[in-house]
Amino acid sequence: MTQASNGPTLPPTEEELSRARLELVVEGPVARVTINCPERRNAMTGRTWTTLAHIGQTLPEDVRIVVISGKGDIFSAGIDLGMFSPEGVDGERSMVSGLADGTSTEAEVQDYIAGLQEGFLWLRRPDLVTIAAVRGHAVGAGFQLALSCDLRVLADDAQLCMKEPALGLVPDLTGTKPLVDIVGVHRAVEICLTARRVGAQEAQALGLAELVVASDELPGAVDDAVAALLATDREAATATKALLQQAAGNTLQQQAAAERGAQVGRLAALARGAAGR
Ligand code: CAA
Repeated sequence: MTQASNGPTLPPTEEELSRARLELVVEGPVARVTINCPERRNAMTGRTWTTLAHIGQTLPEDVRIVVISGKGDIFSAGIDLGMFSPEGVDGERSMVSGLADGTSTEAEVQDYIAGLQEGFLWLRRPDLVTIAAVRGHAVGAGFQLALSCDLRVLADDAQLCMKEPALGLVPDLTGTKPLVDIVGVHRAVEICLTARRVGAQEAQALGLAELVVASDELPGAVDDAVAALLATDREAATATKALLQQAAGNTLQQQAAAERGAQVGRLAALARGAAGR
């Protein structure tokens, strides 16, 4: 997935970010996205996700790392439950009223959800490494957002919960595939259908966290991870992430062929570099 050719070219304005409950700070190769609505436990709306997509489409080209966190002592309480009320939230249409009153078709609702999913899909781009820094609860869409990232660094008070089935819904923000890829279908069924909270230590044992640290050590641990990732050549990192992402869907022979193809590209780049010196 690369930058959309027909998407926006300018990044979201401060006003757009604020309405989407987001903060964005870009410093050289690192973009930090913070979900910023602590009074509602960093609950997110449709606008949060369409604006996340906008951020992804307009990131400066030299950004290599994206860190996502929540303001205060929680990652995110998931979707703003007001999105299911007839009134919606902050001028945004309710998720259910269109189907309830017949003004939206099922196809239109699917298109709407596809737009929301764009806010999550770009986090898999091979040219980026994305990190979720999770403190406290990551519920529903919050858990799915963390699952969309390459790495999850958890504070020891983190609690992950796939709440959607308990609300009569399914997880639809691209979280089911990474969840099954990481924990397997049986554990995923158990986690989703009980909607229980998975604590940080268990998350690490299940592979849902790459690292668990004391809460006050979270920013430092993330900075260390960012520094280590930035020490690797960008082109090699991008090619390696692309290779790893296809491994699960490939046979051994297909993957071996993909490794050869990628390595030829790397060797050619190194040879060009040597010739230029
Ligand atoms: N939407 C809107 N407001 C929320 C919210 C949410 N998801 N979560 C919390 N809030 C609000 C509360 O209403 C409360 O507001 P008031 O101060 O005005 O009463 C405030 O935030 C503080 O909430 P709590 O007192 O509950 O905070 P807590 O720290 O004790 O608990 C929590 C935190 C465990 C996350 C709890 O707030 C909670 O369970 N929230 C609901 C989680 C939820 O069901 N999310 C939806 C999951 S489904 C999804 O995301 C995807 C999808 O459906 C497509």
